[in-house]
Amino acid sequence: MKIVVTGGAGFIGSHLIRRLANEYPDYQVINLDKLTYAGNLANLKDVDQLPNYQFVRLDIVNLKEISHFFEIEQPDAVIHLAAESHVDRSIEDPLAFINTNLVGTANLLLSAKNTWKSKMEGKLFFHISTDEVFGSLELGKNTFFTENTSYDPKSPYSASKAGSDHLVRAFHHTYGLPIVISNCSNNYGPYQFPEKLIPLFINNILHQKSLPVYGAGINVRDWLYVEDHASAIDTIFHKGNRGTTYAIGGNNEWKNIDLIRLLCQLMDDKLGREKGSSEELISFVTDRAGHDLRYAIDSGKIMTELNWKPSLDFEEGLSKTIDWYLDNKEWLEEVTSGAYMEYYNKYYKDRG
Ligand code: NAD
Ligand code: TYD
Repeated sequence: MKIVVTGGAGFIGSHLIRRLANEYPDYQVINLDKLTYAGNLANLKDVDQLPNYQFVRLDIVNLKEISHFFEIEQPDAVIHLAAESHVDRSIEDPLAFINTNLVGTANLLLSAKNTWKSKMEGKLFFHISTDEVFGSLELGKNTFFTENTSYDPKSPYSASKAGSDHLVRAFHHTYGLPIVISNCSNNYGPYQFPEKLIPLFINNILHQKSLPVYGAGINVRDWLYVEDHASAIDTIFHKGNRGTTYAIGGNNEWKNIDLIRLLCQLMDDKLGREKGSSEELISFVTDRAGHDLRYAIDSGKIMTELNWKPSLDFEEGLSKTIDWYLDNKEWLEEVTSGAYMEYYNKYYKDRG
């Protein structure tokens, strides 16, 4: 089976590729990635040399190149993760999100449809989406997003992801394209770009820089360790019912400020700093525009139907994550300095 993973040089994509290439030596895994600021081939150093892994640098917004790639490669499946993924950037530059997340997804759908038209059987377009498409839940209520929750996106990021989910369903309904969609909660773990809350704050604590908490820090997110998301994707890919949706979460809600305080305590401990010193870096700043209050997922469907469950509890996952960043300061340094951008040139030079 030939699988194209889009966005494989990013955070979640690199964990998924590592899992697929190692656990399924019979599969050919192609990483299709543009290498935006969020794509980093250093995330896949340990996978590079595997005979069943290949990297192709392409922009999903370029229909001509994408359709040519599909014609040549004739993939059996696409797992689509390539996206602009950071809410704050979507507030600054919404068009980049419309282009990649909407137009890019449409280009992949069209290319898959045109390539598979004579034989859709056994093919799959697996779209990786977010729980943010459902909007925002009230604080302090026992309510959860499920597969049946109505779409109500609030940020340019979530609106562009919601639009892409609709396109995927429309291609299934109209052309019979075999699809599945997953909507996952916030991920954390190794190789996450230090613009998202957890890696940004780990990096700032390490360098004793200020920790900018938006608003009062009362917003709630449901955190899932990235390898558990990769295992959920693997499970859905192999066993999920085609034409349907799966909601994936960690059943692990944290108010931002509580999470940040825990992170500070763990880091003080690991860095041998005086208790409470990292918390002094906390600075409450102007709230994010349109900041969603609360996300929480009911993962009942994937747990009962496909027997999936998260493997790590949060304190263990967070501790493991901090250890990874502390053990990989060079990765962090290359990413924060921009030096990682050179990795692509080196990648090709090393291969002649
Ligand atoms: P990321 O920002 O770390 O990586 C995105 C990857 O996509 C990068 O490698 C980037 O180079 C690539 N890319 C961007 N634009 C491209 C283009 N035009 N053509 C080809 N490649 C392009 O993102 P992530 O956090 O790993 O998220 C991956 C997917 O999972 C996204 O679709 C996101 O919406 C979804 N998701 C993320 C989370 C989360 O917490 N991070 C939660 C749920 C769902
Ligand atoms: P983020 O990691 O950007 O994920 P998302 O916005 O997709 O949930 O942010 C997680 C939460 O942390 C969110 O409520 C916004 C908040 N946050 C801060 O308070 N300060 C920051 O510097 C960042 C990046 C996020």
